[in-house]
Amino acid sequence: MWETLTALAAEAETTDIADLFDDAGRAADFSVRFDGMLFDYAKTRLTRAARDALVSLAEAREVPARREAMFTGAAVNETEARPALHTALRNLSGGPITVAGRDVMPEVRETLARMEAFAGDIRAGRITGAGGAITDVVNIGIGGSHLGPEMAVRALGPYHDGPRCHFVSNVDGADIADTLAGLDPATTLVLVASKSFTTSETMTNAQTARDWMVRGRGDPAAQFAAVSTALERTGAFGIPAARVFGFADWVGGRYSIWGPIGLPLMIAVGPEAFRAFLSGAEAMDGHFRAAPLVRNMPVMLALAGLWHHQVCGHPTRAVLPYDQRLAHLPAYLQQLEMESNGKRVTVQGAPLDVASGPVVWGAPGTNGQHAFFQLLHQGTQVVPCEFMVAARGHEPELAHHHRLLVANCLAQAEALMRGRSQEAAREGLRAAGVAEGEVERQAAHRAFPGNRPSTMLIYPKLTPRRLGQILALYEHRVFVEGVVLGINSFDQWGVELGKELARALAPVLAGEQDAEGKDGSTRQLVDYIHGNQG
Ligand code: F6P
Repeated sequence: MWETLTALAAEAETTDIADLFDDAGRAADFSVRFDGMLFDYAKTRLTRAARDALVSLAEAREVPARREAMFTGAAVNETEARPALHTALRNLSGGPITVAGRDVMPEVRETLARMEAFAGDIRAGRITGAGGAITDVVNIGIGGSHLGPEMAVRALGPYHDGPRCHFVSNVDGADIADTLAGLDPATTLVLVASKSFTTSETMTNAQTARDWMVRGRGDPAAQFAAVSTALERTGAFGIPAARVFGFADWVGGRYSIWGPIGLPLMIAVGPEAFRAFLSGAEAMDGHFRAAPLVRNMPVMLALAGLWHHQVCGHPTRAVLPYDQRLAHLPAYLQQLEMESNGKRVTVQGAPLDVASGPVVWGAPGTNGQHAFFQLLHQGTQVVPCEFMVAARGHEPELAHHHRLLVANCLAQAEALMRGRSQEAAREGLRAAGVAEGEVERQAAHRAFPGNRPSTMLIYPKLTPRRLGQILALYEHRVFVEGVVLGINSFDQWGVELGKELARALAPVLAGEQDAEGKDGSTRQLVDYIHGNQG
C-alpha cells in the first residue's frame, strides 16, 4: 500500500496546490469540522485518490479496531503489558472501563474529587503554609510531569485566578535557583510530580526544594504534595499519604495532564475550568471513536502527517500556533509525538518498513516569521507547516492586534502555497523602478518556489474546553500514526541508555571513580571538566 501512495505522491509532484482550488468544492471537501473547530488540509498536495489510499491504509491497519482496543482497556502498550487509558481520566459522563476485570472509574472519580477538594482548599486559603495562604505553587517534574501542566497553565492565562505557578524541571541548579529566588518558603506549595518517583532530576530538585523550605522556616509537612504512581516511594520521601495523589501505571507520562499531573492547572484555574478542560477532551474522544475515518479530525490530521513524512519524505513538520499563550505547545507536542512514535521497530520487533515519526518543532507566530520562516519559504527543504489560530482573542479591546495576528497566519499559509515566480519578481522590481541589470541580478533572490503544503486548525477562542479538545486531537493523531506504522506509541525505551550512562558517569565526575573503559573523547571531556573547577 505504501507503494501505491508513493506512486500517487510522484504523480502529485507536478501538481500545483493552488490549481487544486479550480475544484470549487475542495476547501470544504478537504476539511473536517467538529464542535465549532475547523481543520483545513486543503492546502496540501493531497488528491482524492491519495486520500482514499490513505484511508484504505488506515482501514487495512485496523485503526478502528485498535482504537476500540485502546478505549476499552486492552493492553495496547505491549512491551509494558498494560493499557493506555488516559481517556478514562476524562470519561466524565461515560460508563465503566475495566482493567483486569475491575472498573477503574470509581477510583478515577475519587481521585478527581480529592484533587478538587485540595485545589479548592489551596485557592480558598483553607490550606496554608507556615506563613499564611499559599501564594505560589512550584511544580517539580520533568517530561510528561512538566510539559503538559506548564503549557496548559500558560495557555489558560485568562482563566488563572489561583496562586502563581512555577515549574522546575531541569537538573541544572540554575533552574531551581532562579525559580525559588523570588519566592517565600513559608507560603509556597511544592508539588513533586513524578510518575515513577525515581527520576533523578526530579528527586534532586525535590530534595533541594525541601532544604530551601526548611532553611526558610516553611513547613514541608504541610507544604509538600506528591503526584505519582509509586505511593511507597512518596511515603519514603516523607510526604504524608493525605498529600499524595496517585494514578495508575496505565496512564503514560506524556498523556497524564488529565489526572493528578494536571493539579497545578487545577489550582491555577479552579476545578470548574479544569472540568471544562476534561469535557473538551471527552468530546474529542467521542468524535474520534464515532466519526467515519474521512470525517474524523484526529484521523485526517494523522493521515496528512503520514502523507507528508512517510510518503512524500519531508523530514520534519513545524507546529506554528498563532497564539502566544500556546508558546509551550511545540515542546509539549515534541514529547507527545517524538517519544511516542520515534521508534525503529514494529510491535513485533521487526524493523519498520517505512520511516518512523518525523522531527517535530515549532514556535509561535508571528515571532517565527522573523526567525526561521525564511527557510520555510525559500530553503531547499520542504517543511509541512501546521498552523493553528483562534478566530478571536481574549482581549476585545485589542481586537486590532488579533486581526493582524490572524492576517499574518492566513497570509503565511497562502504565501507558502502560491510562492512568487521569477517573472513576477522581475515585474515587481521593474514596477519599483529598479534598473534592468539589477532586476536580473535580484530576481532569483526574490522568487519563492511556493507549492509548500500547510494545514490550518482554527477554533473560535482558546477556552479550557477548547484546549482539552486540541490536546486530545493531537494525542489521537499520534495514536493513529503509530497504528498505521505498526509501532507501540506508548513505551519509550529509547530514553533509557543515556540515563544509565549518566548514572555511571556521576561518580567519575565526582572524582570517586576513574574514566577507565570510556572512549577517548569522553575521557578528554572528563579531564577538561576536572581541570576547570575554579
Ligand atoms: O525519560 C523519559 C520519561 O520517562 C518520560 O516518559 C516521562 O514523562 C519523564 O521521563 C518523567 O518521568 P517521571 O514522571 O516518572 O518522573
